[in-house]
Amino acid sequence: MDAHAALQPADALVRAGRPLVVETFAAWREAARELLVHGIPPKQVTWGAPHMDDLLAGTDPVSGAPSTAEAPHNPSSPPTEPQRPAPHIPRSLMEMLQSAACCRVPDRWAFLYRVIWRWQQGEYDVQSPADEDGARLHAMVKAVHREEHDMHAYIRFRERPEEAGPPRFVAWYEPRHDVLPQVAEHFVARMGKISWMIATPDASVLWDGHTLHNTGPLVRDAADLEDTGEALWLTYYRSVFNPARLNTDVMHQHIQSDRWKNLPEAKIVPQMVSAAALGARKVGQYEAVGQRKGTTIPIAPEDAQPDRQQPSTLDECRRCELWEFATQAVGGEGPKRAKIMFVGEQPGDQEDLAGQPFVGPAGKLLDRVCDAAGVDRDTIYVTNAVKHFKWEPRGKRRLHKTPAQREIEACHYWLDKELAGVKPTVIVALGATALKSVLRTANVTLKTSLGKPLRHEGRWVVTTYHPSYVLRVPGEDAKRDAFNTMVEGIKLAHDLLHRPVDVPDA
Ligand code: URA
Repeated sequence: MDAHAALQPADALVRAGRPLVVETFAAWREAARELLVHGIPPKQVTWGAPHMDDLLAGTDPVSGAPSTAEAPHNPSSPPTEPQRPAPHIPRSLMEMLQSAACCRVPDRWAFLYRVIWRWQQGEYDVQSPADEDGARLHAMVKAVHREEHDMHAYIRFRERPEEAGPPRFVAWYEPRHDVLPQVAEHFVARMGKISWMIATPDASVLWDGHTLHNTGPLVRDAADLEDTGEALWLTYYRSVFNPARLNTDVMHQHIQSDRWKNLPEAKIVPQMVSAAALGARKVGQYEAVGQRKGTTIPIAPEDAQPDRQQPSTLDECRRCELWEFATQAVGGEGPKRAKIMFVGEQPGDQEDLAGQPFVGPAGKLLDRVCDAAGVDRDTIYVTNAVKHFKWEPRGKRRLHKTPAQREIEACHYWLDKELAGVKPTVIVALGATALKSVLRTANVTLKTSLGKPLRHEGRWVVTTYHPSYVLRVPGEDAKRDAFNTMVEGIKLAHDLLHRPVDVPDA
């Protein structure tokens, strides 16, 4: 790589009609700053990914120029504009851009430049999830944070015999995004002076107890890592000092596999699945059942992966796809032992941003209904059937979208936990989605259940309108009727607190 070309400023390369090749966020930031100062709009810039040879050769991260060239004259290149002051980008946006830069999407650098360009033009909405670019930015940041979290949780270090020399612990992982550097920092902080190595298909890091070394890919897969023995350390050692000697076969290998097969516990899952099929749900029964004679059905670990995760916190929930587009999960709120539980549909736009249920317009209406019914909302536990906001963009707004049955079912997991904890005597289902969720069936309609108390699993269930229906139903009379129906429903719920429920379910 020619030093002269490598040092060319980004704006000069763009004027010369060359692509800007960046490898790191720092390099992108430097290039983007140059371009902004020279007022070069996104559509005039072509961003490229580094070529493998450049990676191996340790090329300067910002340059697409051939190694010896002067920038050729490009007759259609934009005229030089007067320089503008260096942009001031708020830290919150810069942090988002830095995280999003780790997201493996092919146009990541071009997209980030469009965001920062728009921000500099005064389009501050670009940072909002309601903006199309803003939504994408949020989704990219979220995907990267998830991946960091997953890598912390799912990576498995294997101890190597002491006599084999360092590293003492090795792990193989196939990250979906470029999170290895930040994950490595996490383990540096956690593992002290013990040496370890994390290998991935694209890069490896090694901690020797003092210094973190970064290198290209060293092994092909998890099995390679185990077999390598002492050679691993030697390979690593050589690669740190001479990156050009990396194994290009490995480098070009694309490894397609999910992370499940790399978890050591995957090997025992078939046994656990067979045990569960024999009825060993309860821990106390497990051993006795395991000793019974029976046919073992072999199941490959990858097929034995549970359909849905069993997260312990809402933040970790990925039981359906909705988490990806929501700002956060919204759990229920209210007294831990409330006698009445309101179940709505899903958080709306304001709830999604605030992280609390029923705080937007529907929530205000619910407050008025409670007041009219003479019931203090603060005594009620308020939650939703689905915990993530499902929406679609409409201009700059995020429009509510009704959750699908499979999304409602995925979220039963959380409603069950809330019901088991709060143990309400009466549930008020606000609208059809809530009703389907509470009764665990899609074959039920609001019309046939409205205002009729049902017994279900030892509780009363009262069905009423969703407050949003009252807000949007056309006509003053219809609005008033719907409001009054809700008031009656809540009064009924209150009365049912004193009516026995220990008769068979409806
Ligand atoms: N609509 C709902 O169903 N729930 C909320 O939390 C807000 C609006």
